[in-house]
Amino acid sequence: MTDPQSWSFETRQIHAGTSPDPTTGARALPIYATTAYQFRDSQHAADLFSLAEMGNIYTRIMNPTQDALEQRVASLEGGVAALAVASGQSATTLAILNVAEAGDHVVASASLYGGTYNLLHHSLPKLGVTVSFVEDPDDPENWQSLVQENTRAFYAETIGNPKGDLLDIEAVAGVAHRNGVPLIADNTIATPYLIRPLESGADVVVHSATKYLGGHGTVIAGVIVDGGAFDWTGGRHPMFTTPDPTYHGVVYADLGAPAFALKARVQLLRDLGPAISPFNAFLVIQGIETLSLRMERHVQNALRVAEFLEAHDEVERVNYPGLPSSPWHAAQQRYAPRGAGAVLTFELHGGREAGQRFVEALELHSHVANIGDVRSLVIHPASTTHSQLTAEEQLTTGVTPGLVRLAVGLEGIEDILADLEAGFRAAKEA
Ligand SMILES: Cc1ncc(COP(=O)(O)O)c(C=O)c1O
Repeated sequence: MTDPQSWSFETRQIHAGTSPDPTTGARALPIYATTAYQFRDSQHAADLFSLAEMGNIYTRIMNPTQDALEQRVASLEGGVAALAVASGQSATTLAILNVAEAGDHVVASASLYGGTYNLLHHSLPKLGVTVSFVEDPDDPENWQSLVQENTRAFYAETIGNPKGDLLDIEAVAGVAHRNGVPLIADNTIATPYLIRPLESGADVVVHSATKYLGGHGTVIAGVIVDGGAFDWTGGRHPMFTTPDPTYHGVVYADLGAPAFALKARVQLLRDLGPAISPFNAFLVIQGIETLSLRMERHVQNALRVAEFLEAHDEVERVNYPGLPSSPWHAAQQRYAPRGAGAVLTFELHGGREAGQRFVEALELHSHVANIGDVRSLVIHPASTTHSQLTAEEQLTTGVTPGLVRLAVGLEGIEDILADLEAGFRAAKEA
């Protein structure tokens, strides 16, 4: 039998984690809409609960449709296991809480999606987990300088939303490992088709599967991928090396490679409960089956749009790592040689007012708070996705007052460019 890991990315995005349904022969992945699973007998039930045997118990913590999604994303990222959850936010939350408890500390890039910044800056400290933000994450020594005795993890986006900065994964993972902590990388904008953080030293990957994995603007979902290589017994993570009284005294580090994913599932997903519905897991799988094809076209269209914007008289600057003018172009060529994703930002000469007029004038582009849709999307981050941040915090995440963010879709490129040109006319007339 062929080892599925030897298949190409394109083959695994269609086949990894699924096979024809043994009961019905159904070729596509069935949606297992069931809350619970019948035990064979009392011993079977007891074995499942004690982790002596792995198997389905209750859909809050596992489901066969969810399992197929987990195996597929783990395969595409090159991880040993994955955990699918209800949203990208819950993926980030669980990934961090899996290694950091009250009294612990995390070092994070400041270049983050606004919701992640809020979580790290406000909500996690309320739970006793403090976070230091690296304002210039490009210099690995800036990460080192923020490490404390109670630091438990590093956190960053591989391509920052919306700044478009490329993380030097290998260098930052190197500093993390020197300090005995894992690097958790949010790979949402890149997807495993463009960047595979685990191959460059990251230890855990999180996704908002809501975006390019789902790909069609129809679902909210998240995935955590366990790289399986981090040594949890180094001293900084007693939650992996001491018995868990809520799970029959299990010591997670003793469970072997997928210790991180297992702990997140049986402890945090069980207790905090952000389960993905089987239907949503199914929708994400449908998206993943065409991921490489969509990403190729997303990248092709985004580069054309970035070049068009850079040459435009009304545009002050464009942030897209695929452009040679980007400070992260060299990093993009190293980590994402197939392309820099399809999220880009630009600043109009007329600042905030011109930016808002531009957004309102677009017709083909949908004015929504999302990225990673087949449709082209536009938003003014300062007044929306990043509006809960102070003006100063906005600047640290890369959001200037007049910044416009585009998530370039899969429509015909001429139609996308014509719509943008109409937006420029409206902004100028105003
Ligand atoms: C980079 C990134 N990570 C995480 C999230 C949160 O994902 P979700 O909206 O699925 O909770 C988002 C949402 O926009 C995002 O852009």
